[in-house]
Amino acid sequence: MDVANLRINGNRLQQSLEEMAKIGATSRGGVTRLALSDEDKQARDLFVKWLKEIDCEITIDDMGSIFGTLPGSENNLPSVMSGSHIDSQPRGGRFDGILGVMGALEILRTIRENNIQINRPVTAVAWTNEEGTRFSPAMIASGVWAGSLKKDYAYNRTDPDGKRFEGELIRIGYKGPSPAKRWPVHAYYEYHIEQGPVLESKNRIIGVPKGIVNLNWYDIYIEGESNQAGPTPMVNRHDSLVAASEMIIAANEIPNKFGGDLVTTVGRIDNEPNSVNIIPGQTHFTFDIRSWNDGLTQRALDNLLPLFKDIADKRGCIVRIEETWRVKHSPFDPKLVRIVNDSAIKLGFDPLEMTSGAGHDAAYINQVAPTAMIFVPSIGGRSHVEIENTTWEDCKAGADVLLQCMLQSANEA
Ligand code: GLV
Ligand code: MN
Ligand code: MN
Repeated sequence: MDVANLRINGNRLQQSLEEMAKIGATSRGGVTRLALSDEDKQARDLFVKWLKEIDCEITIDDMGSIFGTLPGSENNLPSVMSGSHIDSQPRGGRFDGILGVMGALEILRTIRENNIQINRPVTAVAWTNEEGTRFSPAMIASGVWAGSLKKDYAYNRTDPDGKRFEGELIRIGYKGPSPAKRWPVHAYYEYHIEQGPVLESKNRIIGVPKGIVNLNWYDIYIEGESNQAGPTPMVNRHDSLVAASEMIIAANEIPNKFGGDLVTTVGRIDNEPNSVNIIPGQTHFTFDIRSWNDGLTQRALDNLLPLFKDIADKRGCIVRIEETWRVKHSPFDPKLVRIVNDSAIKLGFDPLEMTSGAGHDAAYINQVAPTAMIFVPSIGGRSHVEIENTTWEDCKAGADVLLQCMLQSANEA
């Protein structure tokens, strides 16, 4: 069969996504499938079952990432890999991550059922803890696999209840026997929803990211002094929450001050003792800053972080700033980006070159193997929320592009 005419099975892809969406389903149509939770385990078990049904060779590494491989005729050649993540945000969407895992599985199913001969092995992967919402930082397992993060560091990360990453990995039965360490990969394609408004606004179906913006996370801890809300005069207060409020406003103003494509977010805040009539004494918040331009991000940070210290000083508080994550911007492999673009055109689409504002495991894999991504539209540009949505037609379109990309790379000598 001429593989240029080969298409994935859109109904099967839809059914797989619908089955997965039941695991951790929320009342408003989203999912809560936090990394290393019972729901994560259940979804992993289903993925492994489906990989077994097509006789994949399955490897689970000691960071819990799952790899399913179909052989090629030249099995000693580096494989062509595709995948994404199974974990979700709290009350997140039912496409973020899982579309890329089910997309890669659908490619393997299509190759298997059509008896397609390929030179190189092809691998579908599910990386552990991409979201970083339960265990920070994000993309922790692909980071260890690529050699950018230390395994011991990852194992010792704790969730908000103090549970260790490694303990939870063992608890759900996914600390596998093979060391999480990169092996030669000929090409890595990650298929994902856009998670922003660009494709929809331009009426395009396929997005071709030239890379991913830089990704930087901070934990800000402010120590003030708790006291009685009534008798303590305003002038004598060291209110950590008020100091945090000023810092959050300063963080929000940074993109306006520095321009470009900078975006900043404070997404989480913890306040102690969090009581109506106690002046707050300890406040923690997270800070996320991103841009395509690493220098611009650094200049913004050089301005903002000293400002946090000034604000704390002025309020008689102490601030501790911990950098928990830093990944430089990731320009993808030009040859693979071209393969995605040309495959989309051959299938009749009008692909759009763009950048990814969201982080993906592809950012780490890009450091050690040729990498590219395929995007499909997010309805209303909404993501990391329960109403995150993409049409089934677009899900199929992106997977057809992925199929052509993987076949082309897998048949390279
Ligand atoms: C990953 O989901 C991110 O934070 O962009
Ligand atoms: Mn994702
Ligand atoms: Mn996400």
